[in-house]
Amino acid sequence: MKIAISSDHGGNNLRKEIVRLLDEMGIEYKDFGPQTDDSVDYPDYASPVAQGVAAGEYDRGILICGTGIGMSIAANKVKGIRCALVHDLFSAKATRGHNNSNVLAMGERVIGPGLATEIARTWLTEEFEGGRHETRIQKISDLEN
Ligand code: RB5
Repeated sequence: MKIAISSDHGGNNLRKEIVRLLDEMGIEYKDFGPQTDDSVDYPDYASPVAQGVAAGEYDRGILICGTGIGMSIAANKVKGIRCALVHDLFSAKATRGHNNSNVLAMGERVIGPGLATEIARTWLTEEFEGGRHETRIQKISDLEN
């Protein structure tokens, strides 16, 4: 599995925590930054991750901003992206099993690094259940066309 990850200035610290998790789990990734704490516009950083996942260059993406909301809205504008904004473990498991989410968004100003790391670990390891959920995801794709 290859992951694309980025944040804005509001998510820099948590992004570094999640990068440490990816290293610990032995998961390959590309970190799209930012490299400084300067204020940046989150759509500019959501874009390469969402576009990369949509193009199949990466299997999944992780996006972090202050709330996770801006990143998730931006990512979900890209065709083929199912970005889930998650701040609890139940949803982390459910959105993989039911929605086959291919991008995870979290907010550094919403939850602490311990919970965020466990959410990412759960989201990275849970499998899509398929079956009836496949039909529903196809109906989401139909909305894009
Ligand atoms: C940046 O101040 C903040 O607006 C951003 O990180 C994010 O929370 C937007 O949704």
